[in-house]
Amino acid sequence: MNNELHEEQKKFFSLIINDNNQSVFFTGCAGTGKTFLLKKLIEHYQTYTNKCVYVTASTGIAASHIGGTTIYSFAGIGQGKFPNPWIALALAKRKRSRQWKEGDILFIDEISMVDADLFELLDFIGRRIRGEDNYELYKKPFGGLRLIITGDFYQLPPISTKKQKEITDNKNNIINNNNECFRYCFESNLWKEHITIQYELRYIHRQKDEKFIRLLNKIRKLGSYIDEETEEQIESMMRPLENLPEEIVPTKLYCTNIDVERENTKQLKKLKDKEIKIYEMGEEFENEDYRKQLKDSCLAEQILRLKKGAQVMLIRNLDVEKGLVNGRIGIVKDFDSENDFYPIVHFSNGITMTIEPITWNLFDYELLISKKQTKKRYQNGEYKNTNIKNNDNNDYTELEIKASCTQLPLKLAWAITIHKSQGMTIDYLQIRLDNAFEKGQVYVALSRGISMNQIQILTFDRQKIKND
Ligand SMILES: Nc1ncnc2c1ncn2[C@@H]1O[C@H](COP(=O)(O)OP(=O)(O)O)[C@@H](O)[C@H]1O
Ligand SMILES: [Mg+2]
Repeated sequence: MNNELHEEQKKFFSLIINDNNQSVFFTGCAGTGKTFLLKKLIEHYQTYTNKCVYVTASTGIAASHIGGTTIYSFAGIGQGKFPNPWIALALAKRKRSRQWKEGDILFIDEISMVDADLFELLDFIGRRIRGEDNYELYKKPFGGLRLIITGDFYQLPPISTKKQKEITDNKNNIINNNNECFRYCFESNLWKEHITIQYELRYIHRQKDEKFIRLLNKIRKLGSYIDEETEEQIESMMRPLENLPEEIVPTKLYCTNIDVERENTKQLKKLKDKEIKIYEMGEEFENEDYRKQLKDSCLAEQILRLKKGAQVMLIRNLDVEKGLVNGRIGIVKDFDSENDFYPIVHFSNGITMTIEPITWNLFDYELLISKKQTKKRYQNGEYKNTNIKNNDNNDYTELEIKASCTQLPLKLAWAITIHKSQGMTIDYLQIRLDNAFEKGQVYVALSRGISMNQIQILTFDRQKIKND
């Protein structure tokens, strides 16, 4: 697997690392390698500098792609709405004062899902905690904390509390969202003040085919208007997929959770084999709060049911070199009688292996600030050759695990929601677009695919494409 930065990514990489103070936002359409570049930057700062960095994303899933936590968890404010910012500040002060003070850089991926209110709240907290005894810092946005953020505002928007309620309440799962009640974070004056540098990546890595790239760009920008050519192209994908690798059933992307679960349960039942293996999650946690935080940020199933022939998806990177990465699809071939009957999975890249349980951890940011030590590891995800020692000066403490769960890194994957798919690359797709309720949903769904030959549109309603 090619792991080098592309020319354009390299250029922005150098510009960003050579400019130590300015906050920067880089964007680009789906598949331009925003997350790829962000990871390289994170690696750079963690490995070669003394900077104290925090790695976050707007959603737990996006965070797990870069070994980070959610922005809420970083800030210490949970996902709650507060009657006033002072309450959030008190909470953040109690839980995260130290990391707010010590942080040099805050990375955020999928910034499109952070709304202006949250962005302004973070600034409010940053100024007050970091500027507590330093008026110079108090005057600066975020109290002088440098932001390196990325995302694409044509993809999924912030989920406001109101929308969340509608989504869970509505039995028909069709959500009419005409009265949107959020502002994008770039609409905040604070954005203009703080994000002084913006770059745009243009080279698309995920898709190679020019025609498909043109179609995606059009859908991204079209808004509610669909021209004839686009409609024709979408219709041209409303045919069965050809040349599928042996036994791979394409991943179905649906708009809602209920449709997804229904489909996966249906497909599992349909398998001829009667034998069903049940894997229950092992859990340890300090309190329900931490448990919930961890659950929200990982895809692992409480109870995973598998049969021979089940289509599954890896939900963690096991071996990047071998292409065993998050999102890789495979089929359960058998259960390993010599290894606790864990499933033997044949993946779409030809590799077959027994998948064993792994552990997800939620760490607290009880952090280690060493003047000498350069390599730091802050996030949930794996430990990585980090030597965290207690020395005489008590400069640093152990990373504390607040909650952990152990489960197979697999999920049934005949179907997943478009929302969960943001950030993924998926080999073979069947997409239902008839009940898209969210701006950017159609674009996000289609742009997960690699080529038009590998995508089948199941249902499509041209009225439902929403963007601007
Ligand atoms: N320089 C690169 N070399 C090889 N693969 C890349 C490069 N940049 C991106 N990719 C691959 O392209 C796909 C899309 O990249 P990703 O970072 O997820 O895009 P984005 O976050 O902009 O949607 C991923 O599979 C990623 O590994
Ligand atoms: Mg991304």
